[in-house]
Amino acid sequence: MSGDDGVFKRAAAEHALRFLESGTVVGLGHGSTAAFAVRGLASLLRAGVIGDIVAIPCSREIQALAQSLGIPLTTLETHPVIDVTIDGADEVDPGLNLIKGGGGALLREKIVAEASRREVIIVDEGKLSQKLGSRHKVPVEVVPFGWSVQAGYLESLGGRVAVRRNGAGSPFVTEQGNVILDCDFGPIEDPASLAGRIKGRTGVVEHGLFVDLATDVVVAGPDGVRELRRGNPRT
Ligand code: A5P
Repeated sequence: MSGDDGVFKRAAAEHALRFLESGTVVGLGHGSTAAFAVRGLASLLRAGVIGDIVAIPCSREIQALAQSLGIPLTTLETHPVIDVTIDGADEVDPGLNLIKGGGGALLREKIVAEASRREVIIVDEGKLSQKLGSRHKVPVEVVPFGWSVQAGYLESLGGRVAVRRNGAGSPFVTEQGNVILDCDFGPIEDPASLAGRIKGRTGVVEHGLFVDLATDVVVAGPDGVRELRRGNPRT
């Protein structure tokens, strides 16, 4: 994260806190931008600006951060409907479709997004593009058994596939014990169609194409912060 990226990510995160209200269930996304929002939420709670919220984190890392900051947590079993989730993204198109999963938490992020009335995405403006896939690969989480067969399938769809690795060079393992195949499709003409073809394959757990899930996107850049809105929040 460059210095400017950090400033813009923080600006987007702090702006998005205005979507939160007392007495609600809040989804906490994963990643460096979402972490700014978690810290901002903790400050609002400490200052008494908002209260009586419970939160559902998208990863163990964010769960630990939220706990360390005293944010009350809950589960989807106790609160199956989330009022507002604030999460980051890797790429955003003009229709507010997303690529997510750069941090490897795409499965929980999508479960949380689908359970959310409002999905507020926070990005620096370098993440905007005309067509998904122009700037970021599509992460696909697959079960370890037969992963190379799924890699071949994804290549048959036009992707150049690489197994995600951790810093030590071993395959990155998700919180669910799966592996991630990062697929370079180049600019994607029809994200919904590609999403359906990827998801239809046995062995694929989830992919990072988030189609029609974001309700709002908060974008920060050198000219300030602006909101992009899809329309009415899901009911
Ligand atoms: C996590 O799995 C991702 O979906 C993140 O939201 C995304 O990678 C953005 O990450 P940063 O906020 O760290 O750029």
